[in-house]
Amino acid sequence: MKDTFYITSAIYYVNDVPHVGHTYEIVACDVIARYHRLRGDKVFFLTGSDEHSQNVARAAQDRGLTPQAWTDQIVPIWQQVWRRLEVTNDDWIRTSEDRHASRVQEFMQTLHDRGDIYLGSYEGPYCDSCEEFKVESELVDGKCPIHLIPVRFVSEENYFFRLSAYQDRLLRLYEEVPRFVIPEIRRNEVLSFVRSGLRDLSVSRAAALWGVPIPWDPKHVTYVWVDALLNYITAPGYGAEPERFESIWPADVHMVGKDITRFHAVIWPAMLIAAGVAPPRSVCAHGFLSFQGQRMSKSLGTGIDPNEVLDRFGADGYRWYLLREVQFGQDGDFTWDSIRNRYNAELANGLGNLASRVLAMVGSYFEGEVPRPSSREGTGRLAASGTDLAKQFDDHMLNLELNEAFEALNAFIRTANRFLVEVAPWAMAKDSAKRHELADVLYEALEGLRIIALLAAAAIPGASARLWEQLGQAGSVAAQRVPEAAAWGRLEPGTKTRRGDPLFPRLEE
Ligand code: MSP
Repeated sequence: MKDTFYITSAIYYVNDVPHVGHTYEIVACDVIARYHRLRGDKVFFLTGSDEHSQNVARAAQDRGLTPQAWTDQIVPIWQQVWRRLEVTNDDWIRTSEDRHASRVQEFMQTLHDRGDIYLGSYEGPYCDSCEEFKVESELVDGKCPIHLIPVRFVSEENYFFRLSAYQDRLLRLYEEVPRFVIPEIRRNEVLSFVRSGLRDLSVSRAAALWGVPIPWDPKHVTYVWVDALLNYITAPGYGAEPERFESIWPADVHMVGKDITRFHAVIWPAMLIAAGVAPPRSVCAHGFLSFQGQRMSKSLGTGIDPNEVLDRFGADGYRWYLLREVQFGQDGDFTWDSIRNRYNAELANGLGNLASRVLAMVGSYFEGEVPRPSSREGTGRLAASGTDLAKQFDDHMLNLELNEAFEALNAFIRTANRFLVEVAPWAMAKDSAKRHELADVLYEALEGLRIIALLAAAAIPGASARLWEQLGQAGSVAAQRVPEAAAWGRLEPGTKTRRGDPLFPRLEE
């Protein structure tokens, strides 16, 4: 029985090192995965590498290596970036691993046995970067409309999957599961694509050597997209560990870029239905990140190295920026100015300043101990907005509305800073008659910080853990459980706080 929240990123073509654009998706996945763990869900978070691409084979050839030797070298470089970004994936699947490849063969055999695969021939333009046959009408001056590189004319005998037979079944799926494709704009694209009629899909390549051999005709290898999509079921144990597979599948969220929605929302569910496996629950398509208005690409010199961004802003600054700057589902633009400005405004001056002011005052006026308020429910405005925040944040996160969730959190940080300016506890401290009022104000501010640390844990895990510790809270913040832990008033009076180093040192130009 399914008991696990299962989220996946796309698996990456490892023909080169990653750029910042590739990390947007993994950060979004990680934030969702971490939040579900905070809610107490069992989570399986999968990412990996798509290795049987012709571009990977070419990258290896250019370096005089076998594709396997090349991917063995480059995969750890990607994994190291994921680690620096504090991505908590539970597994990393490589499509060249036997645990994957042997199951791909079984899956293909199943489709063949069920009569859904036949031999035919295909002619048409093919884009090596998309790894996809194109139709003449989508080409721009004979080039791929996405990669703007010349397409290759391919004519070969291939095995075909009867995708066309699944048109009505897919339309029914989109009808029955309205959030199968989100956001709406991508759902509409998928609907009109499927309604306009599906063609059968070529699922093998005759000329390629690098790939998973078709079991009944090993002169052919499995089409790289079919091979790649199957990672989502081979990693959780399809065909190998039935009990484990049933506890994880279907995927709750396949997070993908808008360029590959069709593979995930059309071909993938059709393949699964054909093999008698349940389709995933949702395909969530994000937009593209550019660099100063240009397509991110290593070869164009616009593929910013994530390590460079990490060196300057740390994992928290990096992750916060992506979540805040990019409107989920839409395209976004990375610039060095925008990341520095946002870091300074929202992290250094916003959250960092709030924490250091409050902890400094508690240090000076209450010997670093959480003061006893007249009521734990709170008397000021902060308690009401803190309670609203936790509820709103939870709803947004469960609906995959990342921007809305972090907008609400950031608004609360602003409210808390404004609250302090308005009630001016530093002035109250000069008047001994206002001691109780001062205790109320600082209790609320500390409790606000505790809730911020908790809700921010999925996004900025490092700063959130430090803040949690500065607030004198026991255990790790990641081990807390929402919604209970986010209830207002759980902060114990008398707890010893500690003024630490600034959470986010201000960065100069
Ligand atoms: N290997 C395929 C996916 C197979 S999934 C079964 C692939 N790989 S990729 O390396 O080209 O892209 C991996 C993911 O990164 C995709 O979801 C893609 O949309 C995303 N992005 C690649 N460049 C991007 C940006 N510049 N901005 C945001 N996401 C980007 O496609």
